[in-house]
Amino acid sequence: MCGIVGYIGYRRVLPVLLDGLKRLEYRGYDSAGVAWPEKQKIMRIRAKGKLNMLEEALEDFRGTKTTIGLGHTRWATHGEPTEGNAHPHADCTGELVVVHNGIIENYYSLREELKKEGHVFSSETDTEVIAHLIEKYLEDDLEIAVSKALERVEGAYALGVLWLKQPDILIAARKQSPLVIGLAERECFMASDIPALLPYTNKVIFLEDGQMAALKGDSLELKSISDRKPLNKSIQEIKWDASMAEKAGFKHFMLKEIYEQPDAILNTYRGRIIPEKGQIKFDEINLDKDAIGRIKRIVLLACGTSWHAGLVGKYWIEKWAKIPVEVELASEFRYKELLIDNDYLTVPISQSGETADTLAGLRIAKELGSYIISICNVLGSTITRESDGTVYTHAGPEIGVASTKAFTSQLTALYLLALYLAQELGKLSSREIGEKLEGLMTVPSIIKERLPAWHESAKVLADKYYSYSDFLYLGRNLQFPIALEGALKLKEISYIHAEGYAAGEMKHGPIALIDRNMPVVALCPQDHVYEKMVSNIEEVRSRRGIVISVGVEGDEGLERISNEIITVSKVADDINPFIFTIPLQLIAYEIALARGCDVDQPRNLAKSVTVE
Ligand code: M6R
Repeated sequence: MCGIVGYIGYRRVLPVLLDGLKRLEYRGYDSAGVAWPEKQKIMRIRAKGKLNMLEEALEDFRGTKTTIGLGHTRWATHGEPTEGNAHPHADCTGELVVVHNGIIENYYSLREELKKEGHVFSSETDTEVIAHLIEKYLEDDLEIAVSKALERVEGAYALGVLWLKQPDILIAARKQSPLVIGLAERECFMASDIPALLPYTNKVIFLEDGQMAALKGDSLELKSISDRKPLNKSIQEIKWDASMAEKAGFKHFMLKEIYEQPDAILNTYRGRIIPEKGQIKFDEINLDKDAIGRIKRIVLLACGTSWHAGLVGKYWIEKWAKIPVEVELASEFRYKELLIDNDYLTVPISQSGETADTLAGLRIAKELGSYIISICNVLGSTITRESDGTVYTHAGPEIGVASTKAFTSQLTALYLLALYLAQELGKLSSREIGEKLEGLMTVPSIIKERLPAWHESAKVLADKYYSYSDFLYLGRNLQFPIALEGALKLKEISYIHAEGYAAGEMKHGPIALIDRNMPVVALCPQDHVYEKMVSNIEEVRSRRGIVISVGVEGDEGLERISNEIITVSKVADDINPFIFTIPLQLIAYEIALARGCDVDQPRNLAKSVTVE
């Protein structure tokens, strides 16, 4: 949440900052600001609202030649989204500015202390205390002052600091919030996430907790915050390119990412499977057969959409590897009594690899002795660095706040993980594994072929149903998590109240909601619970609910009892979650569009939830 960008080098700074902020806008978009030194003062321009408001406010500064500066796009935690609360924040002199992502937990006591000492605050944010605290310790060296100030700060931060009197240096610092440094010839960048750096460099350093960096145009010094001792730099090369973080002609990132799913799925299994031998390779998880044999229980740990992926993964792992699985919401897991020990395998699942609750859960599980294998999309993210092994999903950057391709590539990783565990434990033969891999390999082409038709059907449905205020999504077995996911997609981008339910639970309460104003999206593959699902649809019909089915093509019986139907190909039961997900994403997308919602940047949300 919140996006930071900083630049020092030879380019004009404002286009670099604005470009970086655009690429990070998914992290927060209620206000934005930039600061740079010019004519013996710090220029600080901020604006409430989306980035275009800041761009308008910067119209008069197009000629600025300065080559150092900081920018920020905000997701409000302390203080409303106003211009006054937008970053960068300044000290009393206005000569020192700070951008921050995170939460300063002891900001109130620090603020009171600083106020008593005469500091004057002009915002309601927690961030502003950092600017004043650095000012308090500032003599003639910014780096020393930042390190002294951060010794006093409790909470999470990724920081960028700029001081008028040392205009050839930017300070970056990190504790619990992500910050990545980009290195190129005669220039350095800092950013909350990789997409902001991609147009300029693929050489990066991920700052670790407790580290700070002094960025100069032609050099970078990495130090520990506490004693400012120099640290070795570990430079990594990112494989993504800049075009992957652009819309490529699509109206929204979400739509582009929906259409990228065939590639995301394929890229996630590519190189990991040998279908003709019925074999899966997973060297990256660093677990041998004996270690796998000792696993008594698996905890899948995640939030939001990633949690839904975990719910599907549970079915596969229990069915094939015969290991009991618990799927935990990280925000609940971290505060309950846990029975975990070193017989447990914990699998945090996260697109961003920075979700605060998932990370906290990982740390607790590790502390209790569990081995950690994460499933993650972002290379070098905190969750991957703290895991014993990582299965990377190769979905490419996901920018739309609503997670789409990350979900289906997480499903792919979980499908492979389940089969791999079964393989290593001898629970499935290589012939059986080979068949399941063949099934998985049909998914990209099926999705690719059907996407245009699903999209057309979603448009028609959106046209008819966009004004309804409640939706119910029903599924059984493997489709239950997909019903949850469909409902989440709809509510987060169209602001329609939607609930996902296990269809069999209907009669235990939710059926009371059904009337002619309640569209019910029923997921109805021809699997072993098909008949049960049909009965649930009948129950909806007899209460005059509107039935929108997703079912197998040629299913005339289903067609007869549905008001609307989107058809999918008949595939093996275990493959259905991949296929059934996509029409639901498209329905949510088209309904949000029809309601005039901001699809990529829905209200109150941010892509990467790095605060509790
Ligand atoms: O980056 P993560 O996968 O850890 O994020 C978890 C959730 O915040 C995320 O899936 C969220 O629910 C999405 N906005 C859903 O579309």
